[in-house]
Formats: sequence, C-alpha cells, structure tokens
Amino acid sequence: MSSSSPTLASVPRSSGYASDKPTGRVRIQHLRESKEKKQRFSAVTCYDATFARLVDAAGIEVVLVGDSLGNVIQGQETTLPVTVDHMVYHTAAVARGLHRAHLVADMPFMSYRNADVALHNAGRLLAEGGAHAVKLEGGVEFAETVRQLVQAGIPVMGHIGLTPQSVHAMGGHRVQGRGTSARKRLLADAKALEAAGCYSIVLEAIPAELAAEVTALLKIPTIGIGAGTECDGQILVIYDLLGLDPHAHKPKFVKKFASLGELAQAALTQYREDVASATFPGPEHVYHDPTVAPAKVAGA
Ligand code: KIV
Repeated sequence: MSSSSPTLASVPRSSGYASDKPTGRVRIQHLRESKEKKQRFSAVTCYDATFARLVDAAGIEVVLVGDSLGNVIQGQETTLPVTVDHMVYHTAAVARGLHRAHLVADMPFMSYRNADVALHNAGRLLAEGGAHAVKLEGGVEFAETVRQLVQAGIPVMGHIGLTPQSVHAMGGHRVQGRGTSARKRLLADAKALEAAGCYSIVLEAIPAELAAEVTALLKIPTIGIGAGTECDGQILVIYDLLGLDPHAHKPKFVKKFASLGELAQAALTQYREDVASATFPGPEHVYHDPTVAPAKVAGA
C-alpha cells in the first residue's frame, strides 16, 4: 500500500473536496485494503440526511441507500414498487448528510434488465443522486451488465444469496445456498461477479460456512447480512439495528442495538398528554411582543 493511500482505520473523519488531496472519504480501495489487512468494516442502510449525519459521526464506513426503503419508508410489502426516481431522491438526501462514508445506491427492480437500461439508471444514481457506486442483485446472469457498468466508470457492488427483488421467484424470503447444487451456484455467481469487475459483494441469508468459503475465495470484500462472522464487513438495515419499529418482524440475523421505537413512542405519548393538560407549550416556548401588554390568559 502506498503512503498516500490511508488504511480504513486511518482515514480521517474530517471532510475535504479538492480532487487531488486526501479527502477523508472512504473509497473502494480502502475496502479492498481492509480485507487484505483483515480489518472488518461496517455498513448500514440509510434513507435521509439526518440519519446520514449520525452514521457518519459513528465512523461507519459504508452507507447503502437500499431499496429496503420500499419496506421501511414506504410501507410496501416488497421492494418491487421502488423506482429509480425514489432511489435518486433518497440517495441525494443521504449524500447531503454524508461526508466520510462510501455511498452506494441500490438499483431497483427492473432498472438493470439490460445493459443499456442499467447504464442509464446507474448514471442517474451517480450524477443526480451523488452515489459513489451502485448495487444490483443477481449473479452470473448479470455479469455482462456489471462489466459494461464498470467499463463506463461506475463501481458495482454485487448482491447474491437471498435477493429480495426475486422474492416471488424464490418462493419467499428464504435462506439460500443450502445443499450441493445451490452451494455450487452461489460460488459460481460470486466468481462471475468478481471476474466482471464488482468491487465487493453482499452475501445475504446464506450458511455461515458458505459465506466463509466465498470470502476466502474472492479478492474483493464480502459484506454479510445473515451470512455469519467470516465476511469482511457486515451490513444491517438501520431501522432494524436501532429498533425503530417495535412491531417489525426481527429476522434471526438482526441484532437490535437500541430500542428507539419504544423511546419515540413514549415521547409522542408524553407530547400528546402535555398538549392535553396545557403543560406544553411552557413559558420558555412562547414568543412575546414587548410593545403589547401581556394578555390575560383565560382561567388564570
Ligand atoms: O435494500 C437493502 O437494504 C439491502 C441490504 C439489506 C443489503 O439490499
């Protein structure tokens, strides 16, 4: 590694934008170096600028504007209704709040059905959304599309295993890669994506042993979600890890690092009660016009 190329751990937290100076931005080569040095990195999904600022302040290296926004923001049952316009809108919001993390935008369902369509839509996610890379779901069958995107200067993150855009084809959200033929298929997908130029691959809901094998096989970093401990990085949906929805189904692989949904619920209930009992707004929340005598408050 050259001395001008900081390791992931040494990437400064401050931001800067001169193109020929170190910027503090986590970049794709830092993720690769991190794999080589066996330094694990973390990734989360994010959908708006406020959360992006929190994620950046925590030093999380990779942010994905996931099409899971269809579930957690839009309240859809699947990710299928998410459009490129939705992704551009949320990616641009996240980009405005983010100064250090590497920013990846998901390519939504049908937005990469052939290479031309993929080039157009991925171009929008970088140019209008401010993403640094795109992620797409699928293996061998998308290798040529990945190759063309990479040739056009668009970094691509792969995503194999449980691919939620194929929920109907998979017969539901089920663990993938179990059994000899599924295992072989997944290994072939991983190799094809690396050969096509992907700079990293998300492995979702596959046996830990298979994820470990893929991670050892590839030079590019793997990012696991429900894929055990041996991946080079881990990713979680931010609403899951913060426990924002107390009623949401919690898959086995999710760890709730907080229960913010319950805190929010309590705060909202308190707010309603304070309004009803006229304890909010208090005197400290009220504006006055010093030229006008204080009004006699009814009942005072
Ligand atoms: O859309 C998403 O949030 C994702 C992650 C779960 C990897 O693809």
